[in-house]
Amino acid sequence: MTTRLPKKSDMDHLSDWTRPLGKKLDQALSTYLSDQHTSKTLQKAMNYSLSAGGKRIRPMLGFATAKALREDIDLMMPVACAIEMIHTYSLIHDDLPAMDDDDLRRGKATNHKVFGEACAILAGDALLTLAFSILSQASWNIQSEKKLAIISHLSQASGAKGMVAGQVLDMESENQSLNEIQLETIHRNKTAQLLSASVMCAALCFDPTPEQYAALEVYGRELGLAFQIADDILDETASTEELGKPSGSDQKKHKSTYPSVFGLETSKQKAQQCLEKALTAIDIFQENAQQLRALASYIIERKK
Ligand code: IPE
Ligand code: IPE
Ligand code: MG
Ligand code: MG
Ligand code: MG
Repeated sequence: MTTRLPKKSDMDHLSDWTRPLGKKLDQALSTYLSDQHTSKTLQKAMNYSLSAGGKRIRPMLGFATAKALREDIDLMMPVACAIEMIHTYSLIHDDLPAMDDDDLRRGKATNHKVFGEACAILAGDALLTLAFSILSQASWNIQSEKKLAIISHLSQASGAKGMVAGQVLDMESENQSLNEIQLETIHRNKTAQLLSASVMCAALCFDPTPEQYAALEVYGRELGLAFQIADDILDETASTEELGKPSGSDQKKHKSTYPSVFGLETSKQKAQQCLEKALTAIDIFQENAQQLRALASYIIERKK
């Protein structure tokens, strides 16, 4: 079977497709936040990072998965919101002085710079717990078995066997020289697991065939690794203005990254290889995977 490469027209249409969905997502996120009757400061801190202007790639991957399965995007809006909240919490904590110690995120001062470290830690905690509260709400009209499967998948991907484990390994890798397997393990855990969960938790809202489920697993896994390789490359090649976060942060902290271990050219080739595996896996969706294909290409061609 030959891989269907994204057509130029698919890429051109991507933003026409994502723009209205981004608005819907922002509306849903803001409703979930304003329903939280909590400390005004905490609410402000949560909203500050959540509405700061992230690319919303994870929710869009979920929406594109629903499209590939020819299912209703509105039904999986709670999944999209929960994952964007978990991702945002991970960024707030990642920027703390105890971790990457960065001052700029999504083009704005980092959460702890504005609200203080204690409040930033707690805003992260609150976003994480709100995510799971959204997924367990009775008013979400899908079967309880599906809710449980989604909660189980997402808690594993974001916790001590997933993203959090990756963040620990990432910190332990500072000032170390790593081999390819060690580096790949960090990236698969700290980034690929949550990115892939955006696809898999969307799929779990519906009834994919085992073949469709397996194809999406490969797509999410490979794209997740490609995403972090691209992030490492951008840390070296893009400016702070372009990124909306400090360029050169990895070098400053002596992080182990793909470019620091393999150089820029080999890193680009490795990202490309992951992209090709991801695209081949979703061939089975034929024309229904247009958005999944366009997002995959965007992930490695992006400038921020
Ligand atoms: C940044 O993720 C953190 C990584 C896992 C590399 P994004 O590049 O998706 O950040 P936002 O959401 O657009 O700010
Ligand atoms: C972060 O990786 C991954 C997370 C789980 C947040 P990075 O530390 O490279 O992310 P950026 O570059 O600060 O966005
Ligand atoms: Mg980090
Ligand atoms: Mg960081
Ligand atoms: Mg980075």
